Amino acid sequence: MINPKLPALWHGGDYNPEQWPRDTWNDDVRLMKAAGVNVATVGVFSWVTLQPAEDTFAFDWLDDVINLLHENNIFVCLATATAAQPAWLSAAYPEVLPVGRDGRPMKHGERQRVCPSSLVFREKAAGLARRLAERYGTHPALVLWHISNEYGTHCYCEKCARGFQAWCRARYNTLDAVNAAWSATFWGHTFTAWEQIDTPTTIGERSMLGYLLDYERFQNDAILECYLGEHAALREVTPTLPITTNLMGTFKPLDYHAWGPRMDVVSWDSYPTKNASPASTALRHALMRGLRGGQPFLLMEQTPSQVNWAAHCALKRPGQMRLLSYQAIAHGADSAMYFQWRRSRGSFEKFHGAVVEHAGHENTRVFGEVATLGRELAALGEQIVDARTPARVAVLFDWNNWWALENSAGPSKDLTYCPQVERYYGALHELNIPTDVIAPLADFDGYDVIVAPVLYLLQPGVAARLEAFVQAGGTFVTTFFSGMVDQNDRVTLGGYPGELRQLLGVWNEEIDALLPGETNAVVFDEPFGELAGSHPCRLICERLHLEGARTLAHFATDFYANEPAITENRFGAGLAYYVATDLDPAVVRGPLAELCRAKSVTAPLENAPPGVEVAQRVKDDTALTFVLNHNAAPATITLSLPATDLLTGRALPAGPADLPGYGVLILRSPTQ
Ligand code: GLA
Ligand code: ZN
Repeated sequence: MINPKLPALWHGGDYNPEQWPRDTWNDDVRLMKAAGVNVATVGVFSWVTLQPAEDTFAFDWLDDVINLLHENNIFVCLATATAAQPAWLSAAYPEVLPVGRDGRPMKHGERQRVCPSSLVFREKAAGLARRLAERYGTHPALVLWHISNEYGTHCYCEKCARGFQAWCRARYNTLDAVNAAWSATFWGHTFTAWEQIDTPTTIGERSMLGYLLDYERFQNDAILECYLGEHAALREVTPTLPITTNLMGTFKPLDYHAWGPRMDVVSWDSYPTKNASPASTALRHALMRGLRGGQPFLLMEQTPSQVNWAAHCALKRPGQMRLLSYQAIAHGADSAMYFQWRRSRGSFEKFHGAVVEHAGHENTRVFGEVATLGRELAALGEQIVDARTPARVAVLFDWNNWWALENSAGPSKDLTYCPQVERYYGALHELNIPTDVIAPLADFDGYDVIVAPVLYLLQPGVAARLEAFVQAGGTFVTTFFSGMVDQNDRVTLGGYPGELRQLLGVWNEEIDALLPGETNAVVFDEPFGELAGSHPCRLICERLHLEGARTLAHFATDFYANEPAITENRFGAGLAYYVATDLDPAVVRGPLAELCRAKSVTAPLENAPPGVEVAQRVKDDTALTFVLNHNAAPATITLSLPATDLLTGRALPAGPADLPGYGVLILRSPTQ
């Protein structure tokens, strides 16, 4: 449980009272109670309000806000307020300002506009965090620390150059080792002194790929240091209060696998666009859940209605916000929280959705939907909180791989990481097979099937772990352009897929990139997973030689017609599959279903119609099966056993059960 003080599903969101006159505050809490809000995130952008000058602090207003919330039984998730430093701070200490990738120094403004290597920034931020902890650490309303907000700015300044040099010394010891890791003799880029290592600006070096990769790692570490500085201050003063910072799902600049272990609870902000597939949102929930080994997480922010930053800011349709809240909960969230409580009057986000609209009262569609959800969540509460999301299938996701893959010049500029992960996760999601998304160095215990789309870069030990997994009976699926390079983005010599070659029983001799619109086809040699015949493929086609594997499907055309396109290799007690091209979702789905079936891995509820998602949480000996109708139109599912819907208390007999458009059922049953 995140905090036993609040053993409920958390419902609330970002509350910025300092942006409003005081006479609004009483109305805020009245409305919060009407909306079933039990937690408010306060102070996210309050640094200058709390510290209007270097030696002046102003906590009175925050005292009043926190007391007012407390008197009204609303708990507080307190931000450390460091996401946007005061203008006076940037003016007094210009070193806190970052340099952009274009090499240009940036001026004060926006938010997260800091150099993560700035010791002044780190010290000032940790100092404010400490003061907040000293002042509010024992306040009964406080349930969670919220450090900063959506970290992520990379910097390319002099301080970062020096920090990077030190980082390289620590990692490699010698300059020779650095040069070797970065293949520096290529183009004669060998460094002969540490000071020559600069930051990778667009007016500097952007072609030395091992160096670019290490710079991503260094920036991630430097930003994490900022977080850890505040974390240490909070921990020292309030050793038992949980700490988080809000993440952003598939956010490329930060390796969240390094962050998860440094938080007590993962929290993240989910803003799916209007036509985002349910699978793409589910994938991000699963990724965030995987950062702490499946521990429930917080949906820290979502918009109750619309964002303001999209090109076209579509409203969530009636029922959709509720549906997406339950989708998050189904995948492991113990909350539904919003950005933000009250629509701001001015500035950039004045047209961003909020629980309280500019009308300023509760008689709005959005407020009504939030309040309805609040009542439901209050009733569900402890039945769901802390429930786990068991899965026997895992998709691997690795930021190192993402960075290296997308830095690569060749084989195709159209080869990007997330769409490939989405292709495979999406197929499993359409099958409603519970799936975790985990790091390649996470624990593989308990999984029967592991899928690693485009695992281009292998960190040390990953190949051996995969071999052990398959040896012991597991099923492994990977795709083209996998096993190519080591952790420094250096090709593993001796034939692709390098360290995975034995496991997969294939040697990949050449990689062909197809032009946009160009296709080949895979032809199944025998029916496999409901598939037979020929199916188009695109993007990449590789030339495989069998070294123990057998061919399941071959290419239809071109000079590699009849060569293997999908292979199966028996390895120990398990099976390893290689897919040497980019397939349509339907062609991925059938075979994956077959592989799961062979391991008796099935959906918690079979034969759900298209657009109806099924996901399960388990608490003690009770299974909670969430049935989520993402269609605007009604849908019908078939229950094989009678069940009770937790939301309505209705007993549902075996047989057909109807859901309205965007409808949700939470079926309670004993675990089998
Ligand atoms: C992020 C931020 C919020 C707000 C929203 C708008 O999630 O954390 O402060 O800007 O985006 O969508
Ligand atoms: Zn910097």
